[in-house]
Amino acid sequence: MFYQNDDHVYVMDHPLVAHKLTIMRDKNTSVKDFRELVSEIGMLITYEATRDLPLTTTTVETPLCKAEMPTLAGKKVAVVPILRAGLGLVDGVLRLVPSARVAHIGMYRDEETLEPHVYFCKTPHDVAQRDIMIVDPMLATGGSADAAITEMKKRGCTHIKLMVLVAAPEGIKHIRAAHPDVHIYCGAVDDHLNEHGYIVPGLGDAGDRIFGTK
Ligand code: PRP
Ligand code: URA
Repeated sequence: MFYQNDDHVYVMDHPLVAHKLTIMRDKNTSVKDFRELVSEIGMLITYEATRDLPLTTTTVETPLCKAEMPTLAGKKVAVVPILRAGLGLVDGVLRLVPSARVAHIGMYRDEETLEPHVYFCKTPHDVAQRDIMIVDPMLATGGSADAAITEMKKRGCTHIKLMVLVAAPEGIKHIRAAHPDVHIYCGAVDDHLNEHGYIVPGLGDAGDRIFGTK
């Protein structure tokens, strides 16, 4: 089951996602389990985020007869992880969309101002023709996602989706205002941001928990 609470914001309403997110939120969850859960939830959100992929038909010969059956119309997709933490979601997307290309956006946030700085962006040559799925576990102030979307738009991309595990209402508001054309897919929307820009209750620093760097 899935619901849409805004014309462009989709929040997963599924017991598996809710259950897996609760395990991720637990500060005692191991790096290994946390990493696996990021990937699994990434796959579940991808399932919903690809609901609008166009279909065509093809003829197949079943053991009984020839039949016209649905097949993907060959829409090209690029998954764009925001480094570092977004890398944790790539595998989940590729398991469902194995032909997708991967573009990387490297970004760090100034710890004082929380402003993002792009230091790397490598995309496939035909990225402007592709459906873009920007992935990051956390949408907090929205600054990083805004910068990533802006970077992809500079490269001519017009069909952009943003997939996150946990969003703050502040981040959703930011992206809706800055990029009203972008569809946002979230595992959950949490209560608020604290004074350090962390999502509450959240799950802490996603990058550190995926890569075990704390
Ligand atoms: C985290 C997260 C997002 C960003 C969200 O990355 O993965 O990219 O913060 O915050 P924002 O919405 O306020 O911009 P971080 O900058 O901690 O880097 P990391 O992926 O290397 O851990
Ligand atoms: N980045 C994270 O990793 N976690 C938060 O709660 C906010 C930003």
